[in-house]
Amino acid sequence: MTVLQEPSASTALPAVTATIDGREITVADGTTIYDAAREAGIDIPVLCHNERYDPVGVCRMCIVDTGGRVFAAACVRPCEDGMTVTTTSPELERNRATLTELLVSDQPPRVEDPKQTTTGDNLLLALADGFGVAREDTALPCGSGRGTDSSNPVIDVNHDACILCDRCVRACDDIQGNDVIGRSGKGYATRIAFDLNDPMGSSSCVTCGECVQACPTGALTNKPIRGIPIRPRDQLDAVDSVCPYCGVGCALTFYVDREHGAISFAEGRDQPGSQSRLCVKGRYGWDYSASPQRLTVPLIRIDIAYPKGPLSSDVRGDGRGGTHNDRGRTGTEGNRSGGGRKDGRPGKDRGRKPGGLVDYNEVLPHFREATWDEALDLIARRLTEVHAAGGPGAIAGFGSAKCSNEEAYL
Ligand code: SF4
Ligand code: SF4
Ligand code: FES
Repeated sequence: MTVLQEPSASTALPAVTATIDGREITVADGTTIYDAAREAGIDIPVLCHNERYDPVGVCRMCIVDTGGRVFAAACVRPCEDGMTVTTTSPELERNRATLTELLVSDQPPRVEDPKQTTTGDNLLLALADGFGVAREDTALPCGSGRGTDSSNPVIDVNHDACILCDRCVRACDDIQGNDVIGRSGKGYATRIAFDLNDPMGSSSCVTCGECVQACPTGALTNKPIRGIPIRPRDQLDAVDSVCPYCGVGCALTFYVDREHGAISFAEGRDQPGSQSRLCVKGRYGWDYSASPQRLTVPLIRIDIAYPKGPLSSDVRGDGRGGTHNDRGRTGTEGNRSGGGRKDGRPGKDRGRKPGGLVDYNEVLPHFREATWDEALDLIARRLTEVHAAGGPGAIAGFGSAKCSNEEAYL
């Protein structure tokens, strides 16, 4: 007999003993058949369920035979004392295969599926392959027309690929606490909805991407960022890392496209602080790593670039007054966006818009590349000179979001 989750005297949860596939298993009262089976190493296929979310039992892929009038959904049905459960039989497999065939019958063709043609890990199609069914082979009529939504800058929505499994709803509402996704419509027109059925890009969505990570089909997928294609995971290098932005330091995995020398996409990785969750910055804010403006070696200002001052016309305010990104626009338009006057001359608050990129062709000639040893020696020498001239009060430091509170006060 296998004893799982032995109740301690203090928690005093009563235990129940059930038999799953001929194995007697004792678990705490309330444990689902799926959880009990999983802990005993028995696999039950799931589609709407994922261990990270509370089970809702909407798809019925996890049906098991408990000897009752109908099959039970293992992800929501608790074990009962004396219950006998069969997780696999020809009849169960036939039912799961029929369910899968119904679900794939109105999916986009495999060669157009937004998930299969990008990350290549459409869970519904993997189940269909396992059961030997395919949309292309089924004689069932193919419905469509629930629409697509590309209004979010980094996430694509294809309602026709949605199977209404509610994973995204639980990911958004329960895991992230954003409460953006629900359902709207009736019958075949039912689809997930952002706020009051708004386009995703104009809803209160904060683009954390948790729903994309949750979705088992091609209904929610990441868009390529800066033209870097999203390719199947097995064609990319999975690099475990830590998000560099804030002090939480969420664990994540970057999927790196070596051919393009860039990150293709990122996913949350389990660790106690973040539990596989990411925010918009960790999930989508890494394209700078492949930016042509990224500094990869230390730079030292050359002698003729002293005394220090603004190096680009954008920062000095004597350029076109717009952002670097305005370069394709007319001078007048550029000036307006940068705070200039309508007559085309720079205004009082002219200059670079925060977040704009300075022109490196203007800036880089003032620097030369150096080794780390040379750069660190220079920093040490200059700090020593400042300290000698002005004492410790002449030196200040910057804290970082990656510092702990204690470090920030040191
Ligand atoms: S991206 Fe995040 S906030 Fe937006 S709908 Fe998905 S889970 Fe909710
Ligand atoms: S969008 Fe994806 S996760 Fe959400 S209900 Fe549809 S299939 Fe499920
Ligand atoms: S996985 Fe159990 S009902 Fe969907």
